[in-house]
Amino acid sequence: MSPFRITRTLPEDATGAALRADVLHGLTGDPRTLPPKWFYDAHGSELFEKITRLPEYYPTRAEREILSARAGEIAAAAGARTLVELGSGSSEKTRLLLGALTELHTYIPVDVSESALRQAGRALTAERPGLDVHALIADFTGRLTLPDAPGPRLVAFLGGTIGNLLPGERAAFLASVHALLAPGDGLLLGTDLVKDEQVLVRAYDDEAGVTAAFNKNVLTVINRELGADFDPAAFEHVALWDAEREWIEMRLRSRTAQTVKVPALDLAVDFAAGEELRTEVSAKFRGEGVRAELAAAGLELSRWWTDAEGRFALSLSIVRR
Ligand SMILES: C[S@@+](CC[C@H](N)C(=O)[O-])C[C@H]1O[C@@H](n2cnc3c(N)ncnc32)[C@H](O)[C@@H]1O
Repeated sequence: MSPFRITRTLPEDATGAALRADVLHGLTGDPRTLPPKWFYDAHGSELFEKITRLPEYYPTRAEREILSARAGEIAAAAGARTLVELGSGSSEKTRLLLGALTELHTYIPVDVSESALRQAGRALTAERPGLDVHALIADFTGRLTLPDAPGPRLVAFLGGTIGNLLPGERAAFLASVHALLAPGDGLLLGTDLVKDEQVLVRAYDDEAGVTAAFNKNVLTVINRELGADFDPAAFEHVALWDAEREWIEMRLRSRTAQTVKVPALDLAVDFAAGEELRTEVSAKFRGEGVRAELAAAGLELSRWWTDAEGRFALSLSIVRR
């Protein structure tokens, strides 16, 4: 069987310290916000996988359609011997790329979710004997140090996860990805596209309530890690389209006036009835915007593919030799 290694690049207490800092900053700010990375404990990662199978959640199917049709072209253009995947989750769609990259030696999935990395790693090592799988528990918004692996490298950032970063964070993130790349390396970026408002909102507010449970999971994480007393039932899941900024916002709306205590931070937070806490932004893109954001980070968009309905795009940038 092929080797599977997993490396924690964050210090042992880094996650706890970062959660405390984010919760303190986010719950005392105006408006109140929390960064989406805290959704993804083991249960949150499982809920996200369920979301990807919902009838309303088109992005996964649309991106898989593109990968099914274009993996060969992507592989030929990238010629990668190492595939690095940021926010890899279950690595489910990635299998299409892994199958097409004939020269591939090493796969480096990077995620904050250790459970997702271990599950994906176990499955991949069984399916792909000979592939070196070296998983990194890391925050892709921080400084990434990648293990030694043969080039050229292709960095994949799929699922439209880049839309969870605010515009300033996206610019810093893309510049840091560029800094990781050597001549001949590439970036494969998945971006969800602007479309009909109803289609967008339904993708984040499904009938079965799976996205609502995913949204509220962040409260359970804060309860467990920081001893808080959030009652998830006392908050309502909200998904809305901001037409000006062209992003979906997920929020949690307090059903009543209530005070939530967070003992680890010595904090009591008053919520007015109807007051909202923003838990996720999911930006939607247009081709020209993607090209401009890549260019601002020194990357040139060389290929652009969409699914047949034009719902989702994959773009490829190769650093010139
Ligand atoms: C929207 S899901 C996408 C998963 C998968 N790439 C897909 O396309 O289905 C986002 C993934 O990124 C991970 N993630 C979120 N924020 C992260 C961060 N700051 N650093 C590393 N991983 C992160 C989550 O744990 C999750 O697996």
